[in-house]
Amino acid sequence: MTESTPTPNQIIDEMQTYYGLRAEVYDVSMGYDNTEVVEHHAEVIAELRRIATGRSVLELACGPCFWTQQIADVAEHITATDFNDTTLAEARKKSLPWERVTLQQADAYDPGIIPGYFDLVLAVDWFAHVPKSRIGHFLAGIASRVPAGSHMVFIDQTPGEKAFTGVIDDEGNHFQERVLDGDRKFRVIKHFFSDEEYHSCLGSHVRDLRIRRFPSCRRILVHGITKEI
Ligand SMILES: C[S@@+](CC[C@H](N)C(=O)[O-])C[C@H]1O[C@@H](n2cnc3c(N)ncnc32)[C@H](O)[C@@H]1O
Repeated sequence: MTESTPTPNQIIDEMQTYYGLRAEVYDVSMGYDNTEVVEHHAEVIAELRRIATGRSVLELACGPCFWTQQIADVAEHITATDFNDTTLAEARKKSLPWERVTLQQADAYDPGIIPGYFDLVLAVDWFAHVPKSRIGHFLAGIASRVPAGSHMVFIDQTPGEKAFTGVIDDEGNHFQERVLDGDRKFRVIKHFFSDEEYHSCLGSHVRDLRIRRFPSCRRILVHGITKEI
């Protein structure tokens, strides 16, 4: 680890701060307001809708709820949670079926305190940010929060041309830099896991792991069923 590489606690704090400040512009910065960009996501959205149909969903790190909105009409209920109130404030502006969607501030590393029954845990653009040393704790938290046999879905990005920075810490976390307001710099962890790495991370918590890539939107969808613990 170099002198400037943060500890896992420091980078978790830094990412929370960064995404909290980015909340207002997040959807636009992702192209989620652009019909063409959203159309490129059609296949991954269709797969997610298939899995979420009729399920009680605990969504972690929901941000302004773009993905929540994609499944809100097919899920039984969604509790969409995020660490930052700023992202939830953006979500509240959306037209969602509020009788079936609950927003709640919650830390994804502490899902035990989130009330409700769930049989699907979903997180989009989140798993890639979890420090490697916290992945076991994070997955154990989810696995103990839902009944065995529940669904677990992570959607993340696959790497673009300039994705790899070469900045990697002692525990193997890959870092990228993000800039807000032209000059405020933040570091984020961004993993681009191989299938083997997903199997090795998730294997003790889920069975029937399926990994699908969607090149038209550079997305990967990882789906498993929680094991008995
Ligand atoms: C890359 S954004 C993804 C947002 C949303 N899932 C989406 O795809 O539109 C990451 C999100 O994680 C949230 N976040 C960061 N740290 C968190 C934590 N410890 N617990 C829950 N959410 C967290 C941020 O506020 C941000 O909304």
